[in-house]
Amino acid sequence: MRHLIDIMDLSVKELDEMIEVAKDIIAHPDQYAHKCDGKKLATLFFEPSTRTRLSFEAAMYELGGNVLGFSEAQSSSAAKGESVADTVRTVGAYADIIAMRHPKEGAPVVGIRRSTVPLINAGDGGHNHPTQTLTDLLTISREKGKLEGLTIGLCGDLKFGRTVHSLINAMSRYPGNKFILISPDELRIPEYLKYETLEKQHIEYVETDDLEDAMPQLDILYMTRVQRERFFNEQDYLRLKDSYILTPEKLENAKEDLSILHPLPRVNEISVAVDDDPRARYFEQVRNGKFIRMALILKLLEEAKA
Ligand code: CP
Repeated sequence: MRHLIDIMDLSVKELDEMIEVAKDIIAHPDQYAHKCDGKKLATLFFEPSTRTRLSFEAAMYELGGNVLGFSEAQSSSAAKGESVADTVRTVGAYADIIAMRHPKEGAPVVGIRRSTVPLINAGDGGHNHPTQTLTDLLTISREKGKLEGLTIGLCGDLKFGRTVHSLINAMSRYPGNKFILISPDELRIPEYLKYETLEKQHIEYVETDDLEDAMPQLDILYMTRVQRERFFNEQDYLRLKDSYILTPEKLENAKEDLSILHPLPRVNEISVAVDDDPRARYFEQVRNGKFIRMALILKLLEEAKA
């Protein structure tokens, strides 16, 4: 049974193929409208979500399938103490594929041990968010026409931001990419990522706290929210939450073809005045999330059939 827990579960060839399928869905949506007739997706969300849950649901509906699930742990039997493994096994009796978000790192790994259907990690704690990364890859590919030879600035909460971790892992697999990691000292990327992914593979990267200094070099600026829900104390969050606020003035030295991305939700880190800048691509990124999730559902259901 094929699942998706980590972006590294997919080979580069598979990533490229899924991106092509997503682009084909965008170009020819009618050809995909009945691909999942009679199939059901379960969305098990133990943690809040707008984009991931609703884009999965929209994706399955647009493939002709149906959706069931819950959007908070309190409305499931998890509130009575049921384990993730039992929940996943139970839901496998009702659905053909599962997308699960959970606040605990590693919960999807526990889930797949008992799952009888493909399980997709829709975000586990501060760890991974592979379908956001698929969304980001499709967006970068559509914006830049390539996934290699890019200078990518990641800015904000690089410690707890799970989308950042998955994106660094994914973009490190394409040649010639360089990372500029922009954060306060306390919110730098985890050491394991720095050593295991970047240094071991001799990938060029710089750590800095200066967004404006980095700006002129960037092809992609990936802004992130400071992850309040992962902080142990509120004072630290309040001190760090507005470390970076992107404004039109800060973009004055940016490239004309910069693409500004953000996994969303945003809080303060991108001023709404930036939204009208043609380089702001984060709402297009939201749209791409549905198409790449359609491609993922098709792939996993096809493999489950084989
Ligand atoms: N980007 C993302 O995961 O958004 P949601 O938390 O709204 O799903």
